[in-house]
Amino acid sequence: MSNQPGGEHAVTLIPGDGIGPEVTHSALSVIAAAGVTIAWDEVEAGAEVVSKYGTPVPDEVLNSVRKTGVALKGPIGTPVGGGFRSANVTLRQTLDLYASVRPVKNLPGVETRFEGVDLIVVRENTEGLYSGLEHRVAPGIVESLKVVTEKASLRIAEYAFSLAERDGRREVAAIHKANIMKLSDGLFLECARRVAKQHPGIEYRELIIDNCAMQLVRDPEQFDVLLLENLYGDILSDLCAGLVGGLGVVPGANVGDGCAVFEAVHGSAPDIAGKGVANPTALILSSVQMLRHLGEADAAGRVEAAVHATLANPETRTGDLGGPANTRTFTEAVCAHLSEGV
Ligand code: NAI
Repeated sequence: MSNQPGGEHAVTLIPGDGIGPEVTHSALSVIAAAGVTIAWDEVEAGAEVVSKYGTPVPDEVLNSVRKTGVALKGPIGTPVGGGFRSANVTLRQTLDLYASVRPVKNLPGVETRFEGVDLIVVRENTEGLYSGLEHRVAPGIVESLKVVTEKASLRIAEYAFSLAERDGRREVAAIHKANIMKLSDGLFLECARRVAKQHPGIEYRELIIDNCAMQLVRDPEQFDVLLLENLYGDILSDLCAGLVGGLGVVPGANVGDGCAVFEAVHGSAPDIAGKGVANPTALILSSVQMLRHLGEADAAGRVEAAVHATLANPETRTGDLGGPANTRTFTEAVCAHLSEGV
């Protein structure tokens, strides 16, 4: 298995927690219906495996992704406050998946307040306030350390500008709070400026995070590629998902130099887990990104078209989009469109 286009691909499968197994099952059916052959190496990660392995991310998971270089992942829950460290953060940091890439685009038939949203959130995935460096200074006082390095800031900026060039994008906007965090966000911004100078064909601007949040909910069509550090990227990607139909429809990828893990923006949705009503669109569209990464551009395009056709029909939309479909019937509709060759 060589992960060559047209051949059999080896991909790690992490079903995850909550609605994870439901939406990954859907994505697998759709990929199979598109005629792409994948040898799935299914591994367990998440809250359920902590009692068995003492960690939510056993070595088996990391070794599998290192070997295949590609993973499709369902969401993994993280306890609030105490409990184990986030499996997602561990996976991203250990495998150095430094770029989180989330395309946010209006979908056919999914009515929202806006019509022309077409932006990409590029988030630094390995440091900032997610470094896990927290301590109690004295009773009633804690510190969480925000780590920003020149190396990580330069490479995420380079990733954003290269992506903008590759995808024919117009602009990169660096989002920051360097007026307050003069050193940490200041370094992030200084690196973005340096990289911007090396890409004169792409426009560059800077926005303070609070202003950016306001502009996003008023006039999101103005944005193209957003470059953010870890926490701002995490928060604004959910906000951006809300602009185009919610968490059920926005895909994502975590990319490093050696491997890539494809997953939806949404979490494990404990409120609807096990009910069979989750919208699998986000993970199916993450699979579209994965198929392109594997060199299966034709299959990726067909799956995307089939998802669009399914969403365009109000009868085959899931409940989060106001439709009567559930995970199974939505998936069947996508597969039917694929076999019809939409
Ligand atoms: P969430 O994204 O799981 O859910 C937020 C709301 O959106 C819920 O009402 C949920 O029902 C709805 N929703 C999410 N995905 C949906 C889908 N596919 N179809 C229909 N409705 C959907 O966010 P929440 O509740 O903040 O987090 C739950 C758990 O997920 C937490 O433990 C969190 O740490 C984890 N999480 C994991 C992520 C990952 O694995 N990449 C990302 C975000 C959160």
